[in-house]
Amino acid sequence: MQSKTCLLLMCAVFMVKGVVSLHKKKLNIAVIVPDDESRMFSIKHIKPALSYTLEYIKNISLLPDIHISTLFADSGCSPKDAPIAAFNFHMKHKVDIFLGPVCDYSLAPVARYSPYWNIPVISPGGFAHNFGANKSEPDSEYPALTRVGVTFNSLSVTILEIVRHFKWNRIKIIYDGNSMEDIAPRFCFLGAAAFVAYSKRYKMDHEFYMYVPSVHNTEEVLREKVGNKYSGKCLRFL
Ligand SMILES: *[C@@H]1O[C@H](CO)[C@@H](O)[C@H](O)[C@H]1NC(C)=O
Ligand SMILES: *[C@@H]1O[C@H](CO)[C@@H](O)[C@H](O)[C@H]1NC(C)=O
Repeated sequence: MQSKTCLLLMCAVFMVKGVVSLHKKKLNIAVIVPDDESRMFSIKHIKPALSYTLEYIKNISLLPDIHISTLFADSGCSPKDAPIAAFNFHMKHKVDIFLGPVCDYSLAPVARYSPYWNIPVISPGGFAHNFGANKSEPDSEYPALTRVGVTFNSLSVTILEIVRHFKWNRIKIIYDGNSMEDIAPRFCFLGAAAFVAYSKRYKMDHEFYMYVPSVHNTEEVLREKVGNKYSGKCLRFL
């Protein structure tokens, strides 16, 4: 009698196990990155890395009870296309996580809405310093965003620590706001903005000047904006 009960119980356990593996939990990753192949984080560039990773996760049985699928949409590296893609994903599929957008202005609206849908956003982009604001504050703008790449926050801190180390006391930031647009729109502008914000935080005396290549003459800028005041033996740093 006892052995019969035991057998029944074992059967039940096997059945439950069978049911579980038949109904694997689904995890939908919505990837929102540019279709434009000239971007280093385009769909074509990201897809192989993602499928390699998913294959690896399967190989080592890291998440045996979870079936992971990936969905892709074009962010257009645009502040309009990316949130529309996110809305569509949210309406049509049960999205568990957004991977991307990468471009700052595409990421911002997606990361602003995602807390309302309770969907986390993981991005290797979002270089601007304000994405790094304290997420525990009640009025935090991007509480569901995690950045996993290098940022302008760490760049600014590194440079300012070097400035402090060498006891330099005059900083002039000369930047071309439209430069390096091939990486992401307003890339250099956001870099300079982060540096200005951190210079304030570090209480470092700083001035900034926007250099527009089509209007300004480099020699003049060096003479007038750098001149004797900002030049020196140690200044050939950047
Ligand atoms: C997964 O395992 C297969 C078979 O052993 C192997 O060919 C493949 O290279 C592995 N993939 C990864 C990403 O580790
Ligand atoms: C972030 O905000 C929370 C809540 O206001 C506060 O307790 C915490 O100390 C802050 N963290 C940092 C690093 O400022």
